[in-house]
Parts: sequence; structure tokens; C-alpha cells
Amino acid sequence: MKPTLLITGANRGIGLEFTRQYLHDGAQVIACCRQPESADALQQLAQQFPQQLELVGLDLSHPEQIPALADYLGERKLDLLISNAGIYGPKGLPLGHYQAGPFAEIMQINVLAPLLLVQALRPNFAQGAKIALLSSKMGSMDDNGSGGAYFYRASKAALNAIGKSLANDLAAQAHPVALLHPGWVQTEMGGPNAFISALTSVEGMRKVLDQLTLANTGRFLNYDGSEIPW
Ligand SMILES: NC(=O)c1ccc[n+]([C@@H]2O[C@H](COP(=O)([O-])OP(=O)(O)OC[C@H]3O[C@@H](n4cnc5c(N)ncnc54)[C@H](OP(=O)(O)O)[C@@H]3O)[C@@H](O)[C@H]2O)c1
Repeated sequence: MKPTLLITGANRGIGLEFTRQYLHDGAQVIACCRQPESADALQQLAQQFPQQLELVGLDLSHPEQIPALADYLGERKLDLLISNAGIYGPKGLPLGHYQAGPFAEIMQINVLAPLLLVQALRPNFAQGAKIALLSSKMGSMDDNGSGGAYFYRASKAALNAIGKSLANDLAAQAHPVALLHPGWVQTEMGGPNAFISALTSVEGMRKVLDQLTLANTGRFLNYDGSEIPW
């Protein structure tokens, strides 16, 4: 039987590419985004794959929408949850110019929302369901040779901590968890100078997810499957 997966931030970038590739593979995809009615690329895919794609509104800056999503799903089971939505926050801001303002929102979307999502959807996980959390090498202490990007780095480091605890806590129910670095990807967030296309990134991450088991749960993995130091 083809798997059912739920993905956040499915309307563009890496999330849209995950949606596209899994649909072409025959999966059932529950694609969450803030405004399904104006998500043109997803609407086109919905016409192409009417039996497989379902669009659901989800704005992660409203945490109450997360348990509402679980209510909407009811008894339905998920084989894969991809927590993909994320924001970068202030770009290129030098030390001396940081202000409190955007910090809470970044932590809300990049850290708290993935935790609340896994927590709320846990009853919907099918036997052996897998969880993928889109992290970033920017959250690695070891890899930080250039400084800056304080809020984004902090958010992805915190997400890694959450992913590690989830991996430990969900092992008993046989749900493996991966913290994935997608590479530097040509999306709105990655910009046009990024190294790889969303297609290459997602093809790689799908292979990594195919190989995700309890034996390698809780690892921080690059899109090519190599391990990233914390
Ligand atoms: N691109 C890279 O090089 C790169 C590198 C490392 C890690 N990542 C990570 O990979 C993931 C996807 O990145 P991307 O490059 O595809 O980014 P992107 O092109 O900027 O897309 C971000 C996605 O997140 C959604 N989103 C933002 N705020 C949201 C909210 N409040 N509620 C629901 N959805 C929200 C966006 O929806 P809207 O269209 O409604 O804003 C969009 O679908 C992120 O977690 C990112 O941190 C990316």
C-alpha cells in the first residue's frame, strides 16, 4: 500500500518539491500551508493528482491550529510526517543590531511548532511511522565557522535538541526520527546562489528517509546521507 504523509510548508520551496515527488511516487499527501486557496502550484498538483493530494490550511504562528489539525485528521493514519515549514528571520544582521522583536516568532515556527505537531499527531502515527524534521547545518556548533545568523542558528540548534528527545521518547513506539539538513538549496530562503536545486535535495532526503530505522534514529543527517556533527 502506498504511504500517507503529511507535510508543512508545502506550497513552495523544499516542501512543494517533497509534495511533487511523493505524489509522482503514488503516495497520499496531506499538504499543509497557510493559504491553500492561493497556493497556485499546489492547486495545479491537486488537479493533476485529485485522488492523492489534499490541501489543508495550517498557520504555525497560531499554535491552536495544531490540535485542530489532529481533530481534522480524526482516525486517519500517517506513515510519514515532514515538519518542513521554517523561517530565517533577519538576514545579514551584524552584531549590535539585534532586537528582541523577531526572536519569538522564529522560535515559534522553527522550534515550538514542530514539537507541538509531533505531539498532536502522535495518535495518528501508523505502525513504524517516520518523522522528518527539517533542520539546518546552521544549527551545528561544530560547523559554525562564520558566526552571525544568531536567531536562525539558535532555532535550528534548539530543534535538534527537540528531535533528539523525540527520537528517544518515540523509540518505544518504533517511530524513528531524522533531523535533516537539505543542503544549501535554491528556494526563496536559500536564494539563487545556493548550491543545489530543490529536486536534488529532496531526491537525496527521500533516500535518507527510506533508510531511516530505529537503528539510526536521532541523527543529524545531510541530504546525501552523511552525518553532520552537532
Ligand atoms: N533553502 C535552504 O538552503 C535551506 C537550508 C537549510 C535548511 N532549510 C530548511 O528547510 C525548510 C524549508 O526551507 P525552504 O528553503 O523551502 O524555505 P522557503 O522557500 O522560505 O519556504 C518556507 C515554507 O515555510 C512556510 N512557512 C513559513 N512560515 C509559516 C507559518 N507561520 N505557518 C506555516 N507555514 C509557514 C512558508 O509558507 P508561506 O509561503 O506561507 O510563507 C513556505 O511554505 C526550512 O525549515 C528551512 O529552515 C533550508
